[in-house]
Order: sequence, then structure tokens, then C-alpha cells
Amino acid sequence: MQLKTVENYQDMSMVACSIIMEKVKQLESPVLGLATGSTPEGLYKQLIEQYKQDNVSFQNVKTFNLDEYVGLTKQNKQSYDYYMRENLFSHIDIDLANTYLPNGASADLDQECIDYEARIKQAGGIDIQVLGIGLNGHIGFNEPGTNFSSRTHIIDLAESTRTANARFFDSLEEVPEQAITMGVDTIMDSKEILLLVSGEKKAEAVSRMLEGEISEEFPASILQKHPHVTVVGDKAALSLL
Ligand code: PGA
Repeated sequence: MQLKTVENYQDMSMVACSIIMEKVKQLESPVLGLATGSTPEGLYKQLIEQYKQDNVSFQNVKTFNLDEYVGLTKQNKQSYDYYMRENLFSHIDIDLANTYLPNGASADLDQECIDYEARIKQAGGIDIQVLGIGLNGHIGFNEPGTNFSSRTHIIDLAESTRTANARFFDSLEEVPEQAITMGVDTIMDSKEILLLVSGEKKAEAVSRMLEGEISEEFPASILQKHPHVTVVGDKAALSLL
């Protein structure tokens, strides 16, 4: 595990951007694992900026997102599909047909989980997975108690997660109760992981992830066993290490 300590959110986003750009330039058909939430927004802004300056192209890139809310269509502004188009895909030269998110509005969610795994496999696996961490240690939407051997599956969101994400909705009641998420084992299959953390609020979770016991009660702790993880965090997020 490699730890890169930076000053602030802006620097975290810039370092993350150069790691992703290097991967995109180095591979013939890169497969990126992407995340949503507040943490990667700065990274996506940087990537758009680099694209606009002609420093990178995404024409050969495929992407797979970690998760999606159950019950929200792509058109719903709270869906992660919408978030990805707004925050990244619409501003770069990626072919939308090469961008994958689980379909949380599928009529057959169990089949959707199986198909999502198959699509990742068919693409040759994920070269680098961008991750954030939830205050309760979730990665993707794998909440505490999720089996380490889980593959893409449906999960009941923890109340703390719904409360944390209510800021994106008009009210807590509107936050979906379930999500479809890559499993812990799906994430662990990524060839490389880029974990981004910013702010004092995340400090305790980061310390438990890196220095705590490896336990399904704190899903991110499994990353201690991954052979190629880079954590890019600002001083505040890494302050308890
Ligand atoms: P955040 O979410 O980036 O919005 O803090 C991270 C997560 O819950 O995984």
C-alpha cells in the first residue's frame, strides 16, 4: 500500500488526475473503475481540464461504476448515471456506449448483477478502480457485514449512508433504500486501486481502514490485502495515522 499525503482537496484531485492520465496513456484499451459522491468530483474536473487542453483522450477507454441506486432511472437527476454524465462523460470524448453503470431500474435485478459481472470480465477486468470510503467503512455500497466474497449484488443501504447522502436529495425519505453494487471481491479483483480521502470527517475511517483489524464489519479494511493500492489523502484525512 502506497500512501501519498497532500495538502488539501485540490492537490488530492490533481495527484489522482495524473495517476489516471498515466494509466490511460500507458494502456491500449484502459478500463477504469469509477466512483460517485463528493470525493471524486475534483478529479473529474481535472480530467475534463486536461482533455480540453488536448493532453488526454478517452476514445479507447471503458468505464465501470461501482454502484447505482435501485429504482432510479438514468434520467433521474439523483441517479449515478446522471451524475457521471454531468460530472465527466458529457465533457470528454468518451463513447457513452463504453461507459457502464449497473441498471438500478432493471426489472430483473438479480440478472442485472450477473450481467454486470460478465461485462467487466468481457472487458478484461478493471485496470484501476477509483474508490472513496464511507464513514462506516463502506466501499462501493458494501455496508458493514457484507461478505468479503461478495460479487455484484443488491444491498440494503445503512441508515447512516442514507443520512449522509440525503444532502443530494430534497429529503431523507427520497433517498432509495437499496442499491446495486460491485461486491467486495469484485473490487478486490481490480488490478490497481486508487483510494481518495479528504477532510477531517474521514480521518477515523481512514485509520481503521489502514491500521485496524481486517473485518467484514469494516469493509474497507480488506484493502490491506490488495497488492496494489495507492491512497491519496489530504493532511486532515490522514491526521489520525
Ligand atoms: P463521499 O462518499 O465521496 O461523498 O464522501 C464516499 C462514500 O460514501 O463512499
